[in-house]
Amino acid sequence: MEEKRVATLDLGNGKKPTEFPVMSGSAGPDVIDIRTLHAKTGMFTYDPGFVSTASCRSNITFIDGDKGMLLYRGYPIEQLAEQCDFMEVCYLLMNAELPTANQKVLFDKTIHGHSMVHEQLARFYTGFRRDAHPMAVMVGVVGALSAFYHEAMDISDASHRELSAFRLIAKLPTITAMAYKYNIGQPFVYPHNDLSYAANFMHMMFSTPAEEYRPNLILAKALDRILILHADHEQNASTSTVRLAGSSGANPFACISAGIACLWGPAHGGANEACLSMLEEIGDESRINQYIKRAKDKNDDFRMMGFGHRVYKNFDPRAKLMRETCHEVLGEMGLEDDPLFKLALKLEKIALEDEYFISKKLYPNVDFYSGIVQRALGIPVSMFTAIFAMARTAGWIAQWSEMISDPEYKLGRPRQLYNGASVRRVTPIELRK
Ligand code: SDX
Repeated sequence: MEEKRVATLDLGNGKKPTEFPVMSGSAGPDVIDIRTLHAKTGMFTYDPGFVSTASCRSNITFIDGDKGMLLYRGYPIEQLAEQCDFMEVCYLLMNAELPTANQKVLFDKTIHGHSMVHEQLARFYTGFRRDAHPMAVMVGVVGALSAFYHEAMDISDASHRELSAFRLIAKLPTITAMAYKYNIGQPFVYPHNDLSYAANFMHMMFSTPAEEYRPNLILAKALDRILILHADHEQNASTSTVRLAGSSGANPFACISAGIACLWGPAHGGANEACLSMLEEIGDESRINQYIKRAKDKNDDFRMMGFGHRVYKNFDPRAKLMRETCHEVLGEMGLEDDPLFKLALKLEKIALEDEYFISKKLYPNVDFYSGIVQRALGIPVSMFTAIFAMARTAGWIAQWSEMISDPEYKLGRPRQLYNGASVRRVTPIELRK
């Protein structure tokens, strides 16, 4: 019988030290179970940004930041990106196992069966300005899905949770493409269920009623890989947002909308858009060093977009796969000499040889190359984060469902270290100075 391990906390107040259980997972750091800390000591822990906090148990995704390792349900991201398609990965994230051939056929058919949106939902778009950022549209329209499925939003019912997952995975591409079409003033394009998930998205993005459009299957495969690389990533900011929203019992559509809102930030999913804008601003290899200098300057709030990560202190494995995809797509498009890609490769080389980046373990992350690939696919910069959200919906809904079905889950309600005013009396306004 394994001996129970404990962490002993001596508060230095002369009282008996307090013990807390130490728990181990199947991989990664052990955790100190401090759920009884406040009850036993009257104290809280203090951990802004949750740098040292495990917020939950999960079986879905594992990251080893030092080794640059990313596993979805135990499978290395490199193998999934090489041997599977995004639908297989969605199935894996939801069901913990890869589908058999028959299960895959049924899953594809199920997702295809939910790819259209209610015609009334299309009317939401007309309330936005044409130049609204696609993420503003996504937050609004995905949240509005809550108004259409009252008959299947009992989150305690596993079949309702599964149906909501199917609906979200299936409709996000349609909603995302509609945001693009609305932005450019072209008619919405209905999904074609004889196309793969990624090819269908390209069809809804780029086809018009005026001419025949057949997605380039090599480019569709590249987009499919981009979706796989973005599908899930442990308890990142947007996934934690989805979990926290879900812990109140909010419906899954509202929770995913909250995740989209969080992902939009430039420190998180908005970095791919910011990174491409940064590369365009740098413009030429001769200007790289002045931006490296700015990134190192404590008095300059400029950060090298696409570099650094809270968890990865080695290469983000997704960045390497994205760089390979870059080569493939640019080759297919005859853009091998794309100046922005060459600039990115040069910037990566210089940064990785710079003492500041080495000492702070700042490596390219998933967002560094994804903008260049998407731009080569003909996707406008403003749509990059929306596509990240489309892919991450699979991970968000798997994490949400795992939480709701976890008997330990409860309403998330962090506390604080209060530094505000002590209790005092209100002075009547006529006496206030
Ligand atoms: C994503 O969490 C996830 O899993 C996210 C994600 C996912 O799939 O869900 O992987 C997706 O969000 C990737 C990250 C995309 N963001 C960017 O590329 C924006 C640029 N990166 C930085 O903003 C930053 O690296 C963060 C926000 C990503 C991580 O920052 P941390 O973990 O809070 O670390 P930090 O800000 O404390 O940085 C440590 C040091 C600091 O210097 P010191 O205060 O120690 O002197 O490194 C410096 C930072 O100033 N630093 C950078 C830098 N990133 C960190 N300096 C220059 N350029 C950078 N990009």
